[in-house]
Parts: sequence; C-alpha cells; structure tokens
Amino acid sequence: MNLKQMVGEKAAEYVKDGMIVGLGTGSTAAYMVEAIGKRVQNGLNIVGVTTSDRTARQAEDLGIPLKSVDEVDMIDLTIDGADEISADFQGIKGGGAAHLFEKIVADASKEVIWIVDDSKMVEKLGAFPLPIEVIPYGSMQLFRIFEAKGYQPAFRMTEKNEKLVTDAGHLVIDLHMKEIEDPHALAAWLDGLTGVVEHGLFLDRVNTIIVGSASGTQIIEA
Ligand code: A5P
Repeated sequence: MNLKQMVGEKAAEYVKDGMIVGLGTGSTAAYMVEAIGKRVQNGLNIVGVTTSDRTARQAEDLGIPLKSVDEVDMIDLTIDGADEISADFQGIKGGGAAHLFEKIVADASKEVIWIVDDSKMVEKLGAFPLPIEVIPYGSMQLFRIFEAKGYQPAFRMTEKNEKLVTDAGHLVIDLHMKEIEDPHALAAWLDGLTGVVEHGLFLDRVNTIIVGSASGTQIIEA
C-alpha cells in the first residue's frame, strides 16, 4: 500500500467548490495535487496557490487554475506534507527546501492540513535535520555560529555537489541536532539571527493531521 498516495487522496476530499487552496510541496503533497487535479478536470472550481516551482509546474500541467499568494486575500485551506511531527503537533518541514514559501502560504491560510505516513510521527522533534534558509552573503558566519553551538551544520548540496539554491535564491543549512528540547526557544533564537530568512520549525501552525499507516488513515485534530 502506498501510504503517501493514501493520505494525499484523502486530503483532496477536504477541498470544496469555490475554495482557494494552498498546495504544498514534496512527494506526499504531489499525490494530493494529482488528486485535486483530477477533481478539477471533473468540474471542481478552485484556485490553487503553490508553494514551489515544482508544485506550480505540476498544478499547471493538471489544469488547476492558479494565483500567486499576493493575489489572494486569505487562503481557505492549505494541504502540505511534513518531515517530522511531534506528540504535541509541532513540525519540521523543508526536506524539499520549500519551507519559506510553505510557511508564507500556511500563515495566510484559515486551515492547514498536514499529510504524512506514520514514520513521520515522533515523540520529540530533531532526528530529522532542521533546514535553515539563509541568504548567501554571510552564510559562513551563520554556519560557524551553528557549529559553535554543536548543531553539526551542513550546507544542503545538489546531486552535482553544488550548494543547493532555493526557489527564492537562498541557501539551506541543515542542523543535525538529534533532539530539540524546546522548539519555541530555538525558533525564537533562529528568528533573531541576521541572515536567517526562515527555518523549518512550524510551530502551532497545523489544524488537522492525516496519518497513513498499514491499518488505514487516521485523522488527528491538533
Ligand atoms: C518541502 O520543503 C517539505 O516541507 C515537504 O513538505 C516535506 O519535506 C515532506 O516531503 P515528503 O512528502 O516528500 O516526505
């Protein structure tokens, strides 16, 4: 059973006629976009707001009408994947380097649904490397600050072994923290660092989580 497909298709059922829908990024979100695309081809009338160039291309190919986040007032519902979700429903995102746009879209949304397979549900955050999006200028200074903290930073690299550049033209430094004791304190510290554009801690930002496991889908109201 393909759990990502299962939760992607389940989440697409939450989309109703007339909605403005935030479309997340990643391998799980791609199944949701595909399922919404099929519904659009069958007459569903929605406007999508995408969170990456990848998702925009997919949505365009499927014929989903799109607007940019700046062209809409509020987004009714955003559906996105996640890399880790803790027992108190905090999340790490950005494994696909799209967390900056994803957070902007989430912040403009009335409702947010995360779709994950059960391997992403953890007690505490931190086993998944925490993505930090930084501007290139001064990024080595930030790297050294993270290193001095013992966070084992690593620049995200491409398959060609070049520093990955995000859709917004920034770099990503992944922090290998193993366990994050206090996500809110860490987020506040990261928010205060000059040169950090955004980090992958999505705190108090989800309303509903759809978890896929071998026994089916579980809906959790956060
Ligand atoms: C993109 O940057 C991410 O936030 C994704 O939503 C997250 O990495 C989940 O991706 P997968 O569904 O591919 O695991």
